[in-house]
Amino acid sequence: MATTLIKNGRIVTAVDDYFADVFIDGETVAQIGKDLQVQADQTIDAKGKLVLPGGIDPHTHLDMPFGGTTSADDFETGTIAAAHGGTTCLIDFAIQEKGKSTIEGLDTWHGKADGKATIDYGFHMIITDMPVERMPEMTKLRDEGVSSYKLFMAYPGVLYVDDGVLYRAFRQAGLDGTRICMHAENGIVIDEIVREAVADGKVDPKYHALTRPTRMEAEGVHRSIAIAEVADVPLYIVHLSCHDALEEVKRGRARGVNVIAETCPQYLLLDQSIYDQGFEGAKWVMTPALREKWNQESLWQGLQFRDLETIATDHCPFCFKDQKELGRESFTKIPNGAPGVENRMSVIYDAGVVKGRIGLNRFVELTSTAAAKAFGLFPKKGTIAVGSDADIVIFDPDRKETISVDNEFTHHMNVDYSAYEGREVQGWTETVLSRGRVIIRNGKLETRGGGQFVKRVGVGELLR
Ligand code: URP
Ligand code: ZN
Ligand code: ZN
Repeated sequence: MATTLIKNGRIVTAVDDYFADVFIDGETVAQIGKDLQVQADQTIDAKGKLVLPGGIDPHTHLDMPFGGTTSADDFETGTIAAAHGGTTCLIDFAIQEKGKSTIEGLDTWHGKADGKATIDYGFHMIITDMPVERMPEMTKLRDEGVSSYKLFMAYPGVLYVDDGVLYRAFRQAGLDGTRICMHAENGIVIDEIVREAVADGKVDPKYHALTRPTRMEAEGVHRSIAIAEVADVPLYIVHLSCHDALEEVKRGRARGVNVIAETCPQYLLLDQSIYDQGFEGAKWVMTPALREKWNQESLWQGLQFRDLETIATDHCPFCFKDQKELGRESFTKIPNGAPGVENRMSVIYDAGVVKGRIGLNRFVELTSTAAAKAFGLFPKKGTIAVGSDADIVIFDPDRKETISVDNEFTHHMNVDYSAYEGREVQGWTETVLSRGRVIIRNGKLETRGGGQFVKRVGVGELLR
C-alpha cells in the first residue's frame, strides 16, 4: 500500500481551519498533525495552498439519453473533468424505463459506469412509475446502496409522474429510511403555456424561460413538501432556481417539515438576459430556466442563512453543434441541460469566498460535506479526518484563470462550449487525490480510471 504525506497545507473542513500535515496510508487518512515525522512513498508540499475534502457533486447526468440525444460526457470523460475541477465523488441519476424494473435500470447504469470512472460515484434512481407490486424494489435498491430517488413533476410524457405515484414512492422511501429528490415544476401547466407560445410562433430559445414561470416552480416545491409531510419522508429539492421556490422551502421548514434544497452555480451566477442572443441562447436551455437577475440575491442569502443546503451542478452537457442544434426550429426540441461539473469549485470559491458572500468552512460544507451527510456518504467522504477516504483537493486560493472551452486548465468536459466562457475566477484545483491515488497533479491528469461505485447508507439525522 502506497503512502503519501501532504505537508505544510492549510486544512479546511466544514468546521476546522488549521495548518497541519496529512499522512495517507493506502486509501485512507491515517494521521493528521503538526510537523509529522513519518516516512512516506511520496511527499506533496501544500505550502500556501488549501487542503480540502474532495468536492461532492450530488447531481450529474452522464451518458443520459434525453431530448432525442445522449448527454455528451460519459463516465470516463465526465469523471475526469470533475476531477480536474476538484470533485472526487459524484452522484449520478440512473433511470427506470417506464413499465420496467428499477433494478434493470440500475444494472444499465452500472454497465455505463463500470471500469470507466476516475472518481468514485453513486446513483440516485429516477422513478418513472411505481405500481404497488414494484414497491419492494425500492427496499432492494436501498440495500444495493441506492438510498435516494428522483421524481419529476416536469416533462409530461417523458419523466413526469402524477401525485399518486409521488405519494406511493414517497411513502415507501420514508419507511425504508431513504430520501426523495424532487424536480419541482408544474409540468402540466408549463406544457399548456408552451403550447400557447408555439401557436403564436414564439419558438426562440428565450421562450424556454418565458414559458416556465417561477410560480410554477414554487407550486411544485409547495406541493412536494405537502406530500412529503403527509408521507413522512425526508425531501431534497433539486436545482432550486428562484426566490419564489425558496420561500416555499422556508415556509415548509418553519413548520418543521424535513426538507432541504440544492441550488446550482448557474442560478447564482447567470441570468435570463443570456437568452437575448438568438439561437446562441440554446447553450443555456436547461430546466428550470435561468431566472431574472434579482433572484440571485435571494439564493445567496439562502446559502448564508442555511435555507439552502448544497450546491450541485446538474451537469447535463449537450454540444451546441448537432445536439443543441436539434432545436433550431423550436426551443421545445432543444435538449435541456448545460455543462458545469468541472467549474463548480472555482466559480463558487470565487463568487462566494473571494467576493465575501460565504466563508471557507461554509464553502466546504456547501460543495462537499452537506451532500455527504444528505446522501449517506459521511464521514467516509465529505471531510478530512483519521479514517476517512483520502479524497483530497489541494487548492490554490490565489491562482486566477479565465474559464474557456479553449483553456486547458479549465475545460476537459466533452462539450464544445463553456457555460461560463470568459469568466475570470480566482481559486483553482491544483492536485487531487482519490482514495489516496494522485489523479490530478499540478492540473494534469496523472491516473485514469480506478473510480468505484459507492454504496450509500440511508438518511442520517436531520440537517438543521
Ligand atoms: O435541464 C436539465 N436540468 N436537464 C437535466 C434533467 C433535469 O431535469 O435535471
Ligand atoms: Zn431535474
Ligand atoms: Zn438534473
